[in-house]
Amino acid sequence: MSRFLLLTFLAGLLFLIACKKDDSMACNATEEGGLLDIEYDPSPYNLVIGEGLPVSMPIPTDNPLTVEGVELGRHLFYDPILSVDSSMSCATCHNSQSSFTDNLRFSPGVDGIFGKRSAMSLLDLGFNQNGFFWGGGVATLEQQALMPITDPIEMHNTWDNVIEKFQEHPSYPQMFRRAFGIETREDITKELAAKAIAQFERILISSGNSLYDRAIRGEYFFSDAELNGYQMFFDIGSGLPDAECGHCHNIPLFTTNEYTNNGLQEAATLEDFKDKGHGLITGDPFDNGTFRIPTLRNITKSAPYMHDGSLATLEEVIEHYNSGGKHSPNKDGLLLPLGLTEENKRDLLAFLKMLEDPDFNENPAYSSPFD
Ligand code: HEC
Ligand code: HEC
Repeated sequence: MSRFLLLTFLAGLLFLIACKKDDSMACNATEEGGLLDIEYDPSPYNLVIGEGLPVSMPIPTDNPLTVEGVELGRHLFYDPILSVDSSMSCATCHNSQSSFTDNLRFSPGVDGIFGKRSAMSLLDLGFNQNGFFWGGGVATLEQQALMPITDPIEMHNTWDNVIEKFQEHPSYPQMFRRAFGIETREDITKELAAKAIAQFERILISSGNSLYDRAIRGEYFFSDAELNGYQMFFDIGSGLPDAECGHCHNIPLFTTNEYTNNGLQEAATLEDFKDKGHGLITGDPFDNGTFRIPTLRNITKSAPYMHDGSLATLEEVIEHYNSGGKHSPNKDGLLLPLGLTEENKRDLLAFLKMLEDPDFNENPAYSSPFD
């Protein structure tokens, strides 16, 4: 270390000690002056939406996407200091290499307690305006981001604790300043943290370069199997059986984001569902056992499947639909025995594999900023 650096370091250390000992106005003023010295001039984030996806994303006017906000959100998403024992970040259960799931049936939280539902893919969720979670329990990403931190079966922390860690952190106060214009460390709130996380989540969008997208643009030619699968998926009259998938997993997102019962749970009456899903939110018994239709984009990466992770592979998913699903009073009318042959099933699988999105999985903007 050069003598100059050493001196600067010692001077800084003395200042810190002095401030710690004597929490006087002078110290605070100097420190807050530090934050105010940082320019607050966020740059709009240029969200590039690939071809074949919705042309625009609904963004709340009180939380516009900015480069600084997204960067802060990305740090918070990957930072284990959000959990009570610093052992777990959002990314523990939402891993970028697995379409932001954890490839587990159920995920253990910080205390080793397992939840009752499978972690969801976060791909393209900024386009969804029909509620979040499998049952649709929260309306916005800003509200959603507040929840895992205090959930006892997830990060089991308190917001007071997290905010204190942010305030003492060597770089978060500055990042909150750049993203949201805070003037003192005390201005850091859970709402601002949630806004930043929501901004990061909105940039997690499909690249529009899956084999399927490229085939639609004429940049790739369907194999015979893929073409058969495509025709069955969307019921494009070809003499092949109709697999009915496209009604619920519709383009461009491969979901309508509606709530329906796809025959996973056997139930004699509307009160017998093990997990009442959307019904727990609306209180309407007819919604019992219904769940939000998930996207099938990048579906090869997010096994196991369904809200309860009960289907381990895409082969099992196809068998499930081919059987027509289990009986319950409100099972969707599209769930009927499909009569697919072994060859039809292989072809449908070939089509589902086309939805893999290598450019999404390899996108460095989605990966941890700490690596
Ligand atoms: C212990 C594992 C775990 C951790 C940690 C975790 N999640 Fe989740 N996440 C889940 C599970 C499980 C669900 C589905 C819950 C349900 O539907 O009841 C979910 C659902 C979501 C959804 C809803 C997606 C959709 O399409 O509706 C979002 C968004 C989300 N998580 C973001 C986060 C963020 C942000 C963090 C960190 C602050 C986080 N999660 C931490 C397991 C986890
Ligand atoms: C009636 C609407 C409907 C139809 C038709 C339908 N699905 Fe689904 N799909 C759903 C719902 C709802 C879920 C989530 C159910 C749950 O988890 O409880 C789902 C989940 C899935 C999943 C799991 C996704 C994940 O992230 O876990 C896959 C894969 C899937 N469907 C593929 C298909 C295929 C292939 C077809 C055609 C053979 C099809 N679906 C037909 C409504 C439907």
